[in-house]
Amino acid sequence: MSDNIQRIIVSNSNQLAEKGAEMFCEIAKKSISDRGRFVVAVSGGSTPRAMHERLSQDPYISDAFWQNTHIFWVDERMVDVDHPDSNFGTARKDLLEKIPIPVNHIYPMPVMTHPEDGAELYQTTLKTFFQGIGSDDPVFDLILLGIGKDGHTASLFPEQAFTYPDQSWVISVKGGNPNVFRLTLTYLVLNSARHTLFLVSGKDKALIVQTLLENSTIDLPAKNIKPLNGTLTWLLDQGAASLLF
Ligand code: 6PG
Repeated sequence: MSDNIQRIIVSNSNQLAEKGAEMFCEIAKKSISDRGRFVVAVSGGSTPRAMHERLSQDPYISDAFWQNTHIFWVDERMVDVDHPDSNFGTARKDLLEKIPIPVNHIYPMPVMTHPEDGAELYQTTLKTFFQGIGSDDPVFDLILLGIGKDGHTASLFPEQAFTYPDQSWVISVKGGNPNVFRLTLTYLVLNSARHTLFLVSGKDKALIVQTLLENSTIDLPAKNIKPLNGTLTWLLDQGAASLLF
């Protein structure tokens, strides 16, 4: 395993949330002391919810780092924010409405528009933000990812052998479960992060984890997460890691 990739295995999903929150906080504080801000992109799905809830409790809830934190999304289902499938809506309930983060530091993806226009809009939002902090590149301090049993990550699905302009930061797709139009960050952005953290929980993910970590020739979206200059951490619970031993 190359030295910028690490595996952390914890006993269960509660420990996964605990360790995830701890790492989130550590990277937040280091980023703020190094650059004055913490820029993070979060994923949807069920796995990150416990970590988001943990971050909305002591000691994290009252921590000063929220003032300098900027939260973006890795992907979004194009449904109303009050719909149960909304990644933003879920994170708002689990975390955002509880923490002292400035409202203008929260950047949900635009869902009430045509998918391609939404992708364009969010790409502009990202470019404006990063140019505003003196960077032409979308270098997040932390990107949080999950994986599906089919090896998808973000909303980049195996069955979608489509091509998109190399320089795209955000694209629109249709697929996944729920099978809806989605917006997703591209590999260009996902592989530009300083830290990338896969959170994976449960026995039902054990086979795909084994495939992704032990099969060097497999071509699946999660396998294409190869940080250019950053670290990659697989944070797994025992169930997800159960076929690795
Ligand atoms: C999404 C997610 C997606 C998710 C995986 C795992 O919006 O659907 O970003 O990539 O991370 O599907 O989902 P679970 O955590 O629910 O297994």
